[in-house]
Amino acid sequence: MPTPASHIVVKTPVVDSIGELYAARGLGKKCVLLFDEHTRELYGEAIVDSLHRQGFSTCELVVPARETSKSFSSAWKLFGRMIERDVDRSWNLLCVGGGVVGDLGGFIAASYYRGIPVVQLPTTLLAMTDSSIGGKVAVNHPLGKNLIGFFHLPELVLIDPAFLKSLPSREIFGGMSEVVKYGFIADRSFFDLLNGHFDEIVRLEEPWLTEAVSRSAFIKAEVVEKDFREQSGLRATLNFGHTFAHGLEKLAGYRNLRHGEAVTMGMACALILSRRLGFLAEAELVEGLGLIGRFRFPKGLVERQLLARDSREMFDSMFSDKKKIDRKLRFVLIDRIGHGFLHGEDVEKHEVLGAIEDAKEWFRSRK
Ligand SMILES: NC(=O)c1ccc[n+]([C@@H]2O[C@H](COP(=O)([O-])OP(=O)(O)OC[C@H]3O[C@@H](n4cnc5c(N)ncnc54)[C@H](O)[C@@H]3O)[C@@H](O)[C@H]2O)c1
Ligand SMILES: [Zn+2]
Repeated sequence: MPTPASHIVVKTPVVDSIGELYAARGLGKKCVLLFDEHTRELYGEAIVDSLHRQGFSTCELVVPARETSKSFSSAWKLFGRMIERDVDRSWNLLCVGGGVVGDLGGFIAASYYRGIPVVQLPTTLLAMTDSSIGGKVAVNHPLGKNLIGFFHLPELVLIDPAFLKSLPSREIFGGMSEVVKYGFIADRSFFDLLNGHFDEIVRLEEPWLTEAVSRSAFIKAEVVEKDFREQSGLRATLNFGHTFAHGLEKLAGYRNLRHGEAVTMGMACALILSRRLGFLAEAELVEGLGLIGRFRFPKGLVERQLLARDSREMFDSMFSDKKKIDRKLRFVLIDRIGHGFLHGEDVEKHEVLGAIEDAKEWFRSRK
């Protein structure tokens, strides 16, 4: 198995180098390609042509571009297609898409023939900076998201920020929330870079875009490398803002609210909670909220998905977060910009409610 960081390649255009990159990793030239409808339509032909020019045999699979494709039943159907095409252990699987395709493809690769190599070619900002790295692969169960899966590290993660040119702006801001998260939890100088060039990055301007994508990917890989199976609490810091976010996503019924949007709101709550509990200085809270304030949401979204929510209901739905242990609400906090930690103790309910109320007030004051 590769280490998480050693297998990340950031390059434009990356597809034309796949042959060499595969050879260097000892990967064979028989490749199952998994797309969703959008990535097939946008990039399928160019990628398949390039692979054929480089001497690959391919088998193409396409799933609908939605979260429900990340299911056992769609994996089951795809297994059938692969068996019919005589795909065996000598093949590998290349996932071309966002986190849905990456998680589903990783799940299939981890289980097909007891495991074939998987390569990630992420095409959303979230996938480039988060979901394609770290080897967590899963499908959803009707009773909960991401419950059935494996740790199956990709042999390669091929990151080409040029794919983002076709990505809708809502998805860019969604992915940007995870990028900013790395600044908060892991790297003050990265936070400063994001603060200084936020607008250039969301406009996909170089060299800022590639810098932001690549630093995020390597920060995540480093965290994962140090705590692969989430034992020391370090990997858990990647959930900064996420306990609050899961509460909001659950209240929204996982519809009409992108994960990243919930995380942006959740990070405002987590920053305020860090301040309320005395870990974060006021000046850093103001600085942190300043960066959160640069995010753009669809019209009326913050009103509907945060301001209109009852804080107690939001608190209750946070309890259904699968990351809870012994029904305790664990929070990832920061004690300075660039350093996150998993707060081991129970946080008092009134502090959590207070943080939610303060965050709502802050969002209201910005309108
Ligand atoms: N494995 C992990 O560690 C991990 C971490 C975070 C999130 N996830 C998972 O990731 C999933 C979300 O991923 P996502 O946000 O990438 O969503 P997604 O895969 O649904 O992609 C979002 C939309 O963008 C489209 N798209 C993809 N690339 C495009 C491009 N270049 N141009 C235009 N459109 C494009 C897709 O077709 C889709 O409609 C969730 O299922 C979540 O659970 C996994
Ligand atoms: Zn996330």
